[in-house]
This record gives sequence, C-alpha cells and structure tokens, in this order.
Amino acid sequence: MAQNALACAQGRGYTRRMANVSLALGSQSYNVHVANGSLDSVGFLVSRTRLTGRVALITDSHVCGLYADRVQRSLEDAGYEVTLHVFEEGEAQKHLRTVETLVNEMVAAGHDRSSFVVALGGGVVGDMAGFIASVYYRGIPFVQIPTTVMAQVDSSVGGKTAVDIAAGKNLIGAFHQPRLVVADPTSLSTLSPRVIREGMAEMVKHAAIRKPAMLGELRALADEIDLGFTLATINRLPQIIADNIAIKARVVEADERETKGVRAYLNFGHTLGHGIEASVPYGSLLHGEVVSLGMRGALYLSRKHCGLSAAAEREVLDTLKALELPLTLPEGVQTADVLARAQSDKKFRNGQIRFVLLSDLGNPVLSDAVTQEDLREATALLRTGY
Ligand SMILES: NC(=O)c1ccc[n+]([C@@H]2O[C@H](COP(=O)([O-])OP(=O)(O)OC[C@H]3O[C@@H](n4cnc5c(N)ncnc54)[C@H](O)[C@@H]3O)[C@@H](O)[C@H]2O)c1
Repeated sequence: MAQNALACAQGRGYTRRMANVSLALGSQSYNVHVANGSLDSVGFLVSRTRLTGRVALITDSHVCGLYADRVQRSLEDAGYEVTLHVFEEGEAQKHLRTVETLVNEMVAAGHDRSSFVVALGGGVVGDMAGFIASVYYRGIPFVQIPTTVMAQVDSSVGGKTAVDIAAGKNLIGAFHQPRLVVADPTSLSTLSPRVIREGMAEMVKHAAIRKPAMLGELRALADEIDLGFTLATINRLPQIIADNIAIKARVVEADERETKGVRAYLNFGHTLGHGIEASVPYGSLLHGEVVSLGMRGALYLSRKHCGLSAAAEREVLDTLKALELPLTLPEGVQTADVLARAQSDKKFRNGQIRFVLLSDLGNPVLSDAVTQEDLREATALLRTGY
C-alpha cells in the first residue's frame, strides 16, 4: 500500500522539493542531493561535479529492472558513455568473487583510471561498487545512488566500503568517499513494507543518539507504512531523509576514519545486533531488525550503567514497536552464540568491550563498563516481551 501511494507520486502529484546536505571533508568534500524524482537528474547532477570519463554503472539484478534505464538515460543525455554491470541481488553476493567478476567485466569494457563508477541500489550495491572504485586502477571516483531507506539514510554517506568474507561481514574494505550522492525518495516506492521498516531502524538510531524530537515523527510515519504515505508525507520525505543524512554527516565530519571515538556512536545497537545477526539462521532477520533488538539491549544497559531514564528508554522502545520492528529474540537463539559473536565484533578492541550507551536521549557515551554478565542479562531481557 505504501508502495502504491509512493508509486502514484512518481512523476506526478508531489512537489519537486529538494534538500541538500554537504559533507565538509577537505578535498574529499561532497554533496548529498535528496529530491523526489532526482533519478532523472543524475546526469545533470554528475556533470556539475565536473566528473568526466566513461561510466561503469553497477547495480543488482533486482534494481536493474526497476531503475537502471532511467539512470543510464539521464547519464547519456548529459553526454556520458555508460556500460552497465549487473550482479545477482542479495547480501550473499557481497564478496570478493563478485568483485573479481565485475572488475573483469569493467576491464573488458575498456574502463581505465579515467572512468568512474556509479552505484545504483541498496547498501549491498553501494558497499561493493564503492569498494571496487577504491581499488580499480588503485582508485577511481564513484557516485552513490541509494535506493533503499537503509542506503539513503545511512550506508551511502560516510565513505565506508566493504565486502564480506567467510570470517565475517565487512572485514575487507576501504574508506573511499563518493563524489556525489543522489537520493530519490520516490524510488522507495518499490520496496516491501518490511524493508522500509528495517531501514527506519537506522532512523530511530539517529534520533536516539542525536535528535530525540524525530522519534515522534517516525511514529507518525509508522502509521502510514501499511496504509500508504499521504502526499503531504511524500513531500516531506526529502527533508526527513536529509535530516538523517545530516546527523550522520556531522558525525563523519568529526571522525572520518573512526579513530576519535565519535563515529562509533553510529554503532548504537550494533554490537549486540551483530552478535544476534550472526547467531540466527542466515537471512532470517534483516540488518535493521537485529539493530532494533540490539538497541533494546543497549537501552537496558544504558539504564544500568549511565542513568538513562525509564521514560527515555520507553520512548525509543515505543517507536520501534510502532514500526513493528522486533524486540524479542526468535526461538532457538543461543545466548553463548550471541555473546561469542558479539565479542568478535569490530567494536571490541584488545578484548575490551567498547559499548555505545546513552546517558540521555541525544547523549551517547562510549562505555568500558559493560561486562560479559551484562551482555548475558541483556540477551535474557530480549527473551521477554515488550
Ligand atoms: N557502508 C556503510 O556505512 C553501511 C552502513 C549500514 C549498512 N551497510 C551495508 O548495507 C547492506 C544492507 O543494505 P540494504 O538494506 O540496502 O540491503 P540490499 O542492498 O540488499 O537491498 C535489500 C533488497 O532490496 C532490493 N532493492 C534495493 N532497492 C530497491 C528498490 N528501490 N525497490 C525494490 N527493491 C529494492 C535489493 O535488490 C535487495 O534485494 C549490508 O551489506 C550492510 O553491511 C553499510
């Protein structure tokens, strides 16, 4: 239903309102352009960045049939020569073998260091195409065109690129900032409500760590996911998405390479979340769904160690509940597995747990106080209803 309302909005009805966010990263600075209908302006927007050369347009098999034509046409209308490179959709493809296949295709298509990559799709496409751009001919520019909520509000911004290996997710990667990000909220029209909801878990995270006032807005949006977004909401989406990007942008500007402890705030809910993600059958819970569970655990630990109020905890949990995100572990998950996997998470340095907690809504802290026993308690809590 939500898709239908947004789909109707594609091409008519909505105001072509746009919102821009700039990332100030010295010579790596770039703009994020958020506007309904902007898929058709990609060529013009790219040409304004002064990127020249041929384009390797990388997308997945699902997004290809939905949006690749429009983006390719827009780039060609702006004078770019484009070759299209498509891989099978899904996280399972985000690995080095796919990278090698795509790179071989790009070489065969004659791309050299004067070319650039355009990544069209969700976080899987953005992470992998960005990684390719970071290593192809020792690094070429790339542009992100995110088409999931997750990718629009989170993964397309900040320059983290990666692929998965057998030992774990995102273990091989590079920091490589895009030259431009173009997000078209109407492209979310074709997502299932479940994928919209899981992407919104990252918006709840942003609200919890930086902008608690947004929680009410997210609860209001939740009411519309099944019934269909109203035109008024569709017109507001660019600003809502840009507000989220701005939260991430300011954190990235303060700590681009995650060395100062600030970027780690974006991991709120993720340490326990990653432990859960690795302990459930592959693909049974989406990333945003495990982040929801991880946030419930982190809120509990924030109350225990940082004096977070019960009312603040409740407000975040009520928002996750309104979004129908999971707050209870599925049957069969072993606590020992969650703990072991959580501890192999990158947020654990030299065996020391560095956990993102909240002293208040909007006030994250990096805590060393969380013990194994705490994690066990938090996991036990996740077996109870909310
Ligand atoms: N780099 C970062 O900072 C960062 C941050 C968060 C997550 N990530 C990564 O992002 C990935 C998850 O991203 P995701 O949730 O976007 O998953 P995804 O890219 O797998 O997309 C989910 C599904 O939706 C489909 N899809 C994409 N856009 C669509 C559209 N507009 N309409 C219909 N279907 C569409 C895809 O084909 C796929 O089947 C993970 O690999 C995660 O590690 C990276």
